[in-house]
Amino acid sequence: MITKSTIDRIMEATDIVEVIGEFVQLKKRGANYVGLSPFANERTPSFTVSPAKGIFKDFSSGKGGSAITFLMELEKFTYPEALRWLAKKYGIEVEETVETIENKEEENRRESLMIVTAYAAKFFHESLLETDEGKSIGLSYFKERGFNNDTIRKFELGYSPDQWEAFTGQALKDGYQQEFLEESGLSVKRDNGSLYDRYRGRVMFPIHSFTGRVIAFGGRTLKSDKNVPKYVNSPESEIYHKSNVLYGLYFAKKAIRDEDNCFLVEGYADVLSVHQAGIENVVASSGTSLTVEQIRLIGRFTKNITILYDGDAAGIKASLRGLDMILEEGLNVKVVLFPDGHDPDSYVRNFGTSGFKKHIEDNKKDFILFKTDILLKEAGNDPLKKAEIIREIVESVAKIPDSIKASVFIKECSHLLKIDERALLSELNKMRLAKAKKDSQQQISRPVPVEETLLDESTIKEAREDASQEREIVRLLLLYGNRMIDWDGIANTYVGPFMIAELSDVEFENPACKKFVELYRTEVENGILPEEQHFIHYPEKEIVDLTVTLIATKYTLSENWYEMHKIMVPDEQVNMKATILGAIFHLKKQKVGKILEGLRSELQKTPSEADQEILLNQYMHMKKVEKTISDYLGSVILK
Ligand code: UTP
Ligand code: MN
Repeated sequence: MITKSTIDRIMEATDIVEVIGEFVQLKKRGANYVGLSPFANERTPSFTVSPAKGIFKDFSSGKGGSAITFLMELEKFTYPEALRWLAKKYGIEVEETVETIENKEEENRRESLMIVTAYAAKFFHESLLETDEGKSIGLSYFKERGFNNDTIRKFELGYSPDQWEAFTGQALKDGYQQEFLEESGLSVKRDNGSLYDRYRGRVMFPIHSFTGRVIAFGGRTLKSDKNVPKYVNSPESEIYHKSNVLYGLYFAKKAIRDEDNCFLVEGYADVLSVHQAGIENVVASSGTSLTVEQIRLIGRFTKNITILYDGDAAGIKASLRGLDMILEEGLNVKVVLFPDGHDPDSYVRNFGTSGFKKHIEDNKKDFILFKTDILLKEAGNDPLKKAEIIREIVESVAKIPDSIKASVFIKECSHLLKIDERALLSELNKMRLAKAKKDSQQQISRPVPVEETLLDESTIKEAREDASQEREIVRLLLLYGNRMIDWDGIANTYVGPFMIAELSDVEFENPACKKFVELYRTEVENGILPEEQHFIHYPEKEIVDLTVTLIATKYTLSENWYEMHKIMVPDEQVNMKATILGAIFHLKKQKVGKILEGLRSELQKTPSEADQEILLNQYMHMKKVEKTISDYLGSVILK
């Protein structure tokens, strides 16, 4: 277990904006930062980070919590793993107590897969650098291709020995389970049930998740035999979904953000060479055609994509349609062609960094103009084909969400196509109209997040009353528990301990609330007034979720929200006493109501006379209690 003092040091060092900023492009807005949710596909940012509170709240998916919760949600880290990740980031040494040495079998499946994959990466990497076969075959191949030691280390390149069971045998010997070796695709099962290596005699390219963990491999053959597949890739697994992954993104994301542009290439080799040349904002879609998920992944870091195409552009036309998708996502797409026979890898090696950059500067074209060019060349003088082109181009333009940008393209395309701008515009408008109709139909079925519908004080109040009384107690404990309350100038007490004492006879039902109140009580009994930070960083998800949900509404996250909407500050802070007592007694009243209901149904079951009398007595007693509470609520609190 990681020691408390290490955890404290990690918490102290952690800057939530910095941590989340590694994954989400954040913009400052007032005291907070906002960005596009990494958990939902959205176009308007609803993901909010509050550095002051050390929390994030994602209003699209409802997720929220601390920097640790964020890492757990996004990377599927366990709590200790998230701590280790932060410790590494901030250079903090992790002290552990010995009692719980992590047990491989106890790790969940995903974790086991990640562990076996990381182990394999290490195995292949060492085999490349430290075995004779690896050095003479794999390493010399990489060297010949111009990859230097830094690149080989950084991308953890490797070599798989040319034997049937070199890796599998070692892994089994080291205690890795068959199940995970097979599921990760590293080993393949024979008919007789034994396992053999999927990768044999190949140079290995580990594929990292965008948070830096190895999740898959591409293995390139060194043979020129046409019958041998050039690359063997990991199969899809619980940790590897090809369509959600971009090769090199982990190493590129910082540069992508800094340069506000992402170069997209085709192969592993292209990424490595371009990166090695100092142009680090480069990723590859790895042979598959680009997916929406991949585009959105890039879109988290930048709105600008530059696609670098090989010279032999047989596939270019086929991929043109796919690129409309990028436009639809609101990203700006530029395209660069390389001269025949060259790909980014060979070009940068031949012409160096500055030659490469110059080629891009001189040749980059906006995607739509690029597409127009290509299609026009193809159509020649065929008028029918030309009409078809016009439709296709306008279709692409119609996908651009920004209408000013779209009209600029229309103008340029009208030149290229030698066609009247107005004709294109009217075509464009027709398509836009059709699209708007379709969108609005979709809008209706899309549920509007609750937070967005709360726009005035009465609706806020309503929602608050709708929320369970138990949550209201937790909310008040969180917000005001450490405030002093003045009981008519006679005695001052802290709100938290007062509420806890008052509620000692109440049984909470909601598991998270119950747990929360118990935790709060324990702290109070130890003489501590727990702060919201205590719960934000609590190692249990349900507590963190409850806490963040209650303290992070759009209103509390935006300090001048009330002012902006010309709404009076709700009176709960002004009349603290009424707020606190109101919550306590509303909850009690609710509980008493439930008890009465229970007694009534017991009575209806026609019990024996003696039992009936007991029940009746209880019933009368509870009725009195109920009346007292009602009177109290009615007269004192007037709520
Ligand atoms: P390339 O054939 O361009 O590969 O395929 P490359 O990486 O540039 O390799 P070199 O330069 O010949 O060494 C581009 C990408 O397509 C995927 C790989 O991700 C590769 O990097 N691919 C290609 C496969 O998955 N399987 C294949 O058989 C071929
Ligand atoms: Mn290549």
